[in-house]
Amino acid sequence: MRTQVGIVGAGPAGLFLALLLARDGIDCIVLEARSRDYVEGRVRAGVLEQGTVDLMHELGVAERLMRESMIDRNLDIRFEGQLIHLDLPGLAGGREVHIYGQQEVVKDLIAARLTAVQQLFEAESIAIDGIDTARPVINFRHKGEQHALECDVVAGCDGFHGIARASVPQDALAVHDHIFPFGWLGILSESRPLADMTYANHDHGFALASRRSPRISRLYVQCAVDEDIALWPDARIWEELHIRLNADHDELVEGRIFQKGVTPVRSFVAAPMRQGRLFLAGDAAHIVPPTGAKGLNLAAADVRVLARALTAFLRRGDDRLLEGYSDTCLRRVWKTVRYSTYMTTLLHRFPAHSTFERRIQLAELDYIAGSHAAQTVVAENYVGLPMETA
Ligand code: FAD
Ligand code: DHB
Repeated sequence: MRTQVGIVGAGPAGLFLALLLARDGIDCIVLEARSRDYVEGRVRAGVLEQGTVDLMHELGVAERLMRESMIDRNLDIRFEGQLIHLDLPGLAGGREVHIYGQQEVVKDLIAARLTAVQQLFEAESIAIDGIDTARPVINFRHKGEQHALECDVVAGCDGFHGIARASVPQDALAVHDHIFPFGWLGILSESRPLADMTYANHDHGFALASRRSPRISRLYVQCAVDEDIALWPDARIWEELHIRLNADHDELVEGRIFQKGVTPVRSFVAAPMRQGRLFLAGDAAHIVPPTGAKGLNLAAADVRVLARALTAFLRRGDDRLLEGYSDTCLRRVWKTVRYSTYMTTLLHRFPAHSTFERRIQLAELDYIAGSHAAQTVVAENYVGLPMETA
């Protein structure tokens, strides 16, 4: 088998890249280890920055998004009986975000890809060879047999646990890793959501009330790293959510919980995002802590840069954009890591915090509550930095 761009992974990074390349007439094949049902059902992110929504429009895949997504114009932070209410468009130049599940984005991109170029599910890449040559090869297993896909370029879009980053010689990558001393327990519930996206800092720990539809709530509570989910029966989750969000039963309606999962909270950046003819994008290269909802949006921003660079290279032999790919992306990545780390540090309870550090955290929240400038900092990063600054 042969293609111009071999893409490993059918998450948001791989699928956005495939559609961008197909639009520009570049031949590509997507190899995905899991089944189509599995990737379409994987519950994760839900907040789309304006730039990600614009990308869906450009690719002609925004029809259902415009019908079913909800627009968020406000962001609330609750702490010690106080409320910070951010008017996002007012603070951030008219920009807002859309609420639309990541798995819905993935479904829309896969449906569009079915009519565009080739994608193989249950095709697990097991090795990427020759990345320092002009003909890298992806070896993969499909239906019990081993195959080789010869490419001009390989895009490693296979997430944090994939093989692409592991194919780069260890001494060629600088790794910056920070693991926070807690996780997030996330649920989906059949219940009316809170009126606005609400983050809470409480002595018991962080909580977040988001949503997926007018009848589906997406809720998170801070929990231990490697939390045993069996220790969180539904009643305990609701009790903690009421306490941390300071929300009574009328405001926080309890419904049937139909999905539960624990997410680690970490920052990770591997640089550069390129080795020879292998380019890393999305979670394969970096993880941001979930506070602020940036991971999917960062994956989309990476592949927008990568697609433009690959098209210039494969169409016209011009490698200048490809040479700048890693540096261009990493500027946005580090600003986003900075913001997500700031929001994480601001809103969580740190087991090792002294009373001094706790008072500083609450003073910071109190400062934001009274400062238009500080609110602007939170809001303009939340809606997404403009692409030009990348
Ligand atoms: P992935 O989505 O991980 O996709 C990688 C794909 O590669 C997978 O389908 C995987 O099966 C496949 N793969 C792996 N190995 C191989 C192999 N060897 N061969 C072939 N295929 C392989 N981000 C936001 O922007 N907003 C949010 O609100 C948000 N909330 C989140 C909430 C939770 C609970 C979690 C867990 C994450 C959240 N994120 C959020 C982060 C976001 O989900 C990720 O950043 C995003 O999925 C990254 O996309 P990706 O395509 O890079 O990687
Ligand atoms: C959601 C996830 C986040 O990480 C966040 O900061 C806000 C909302 C969500 O899943 O809806």
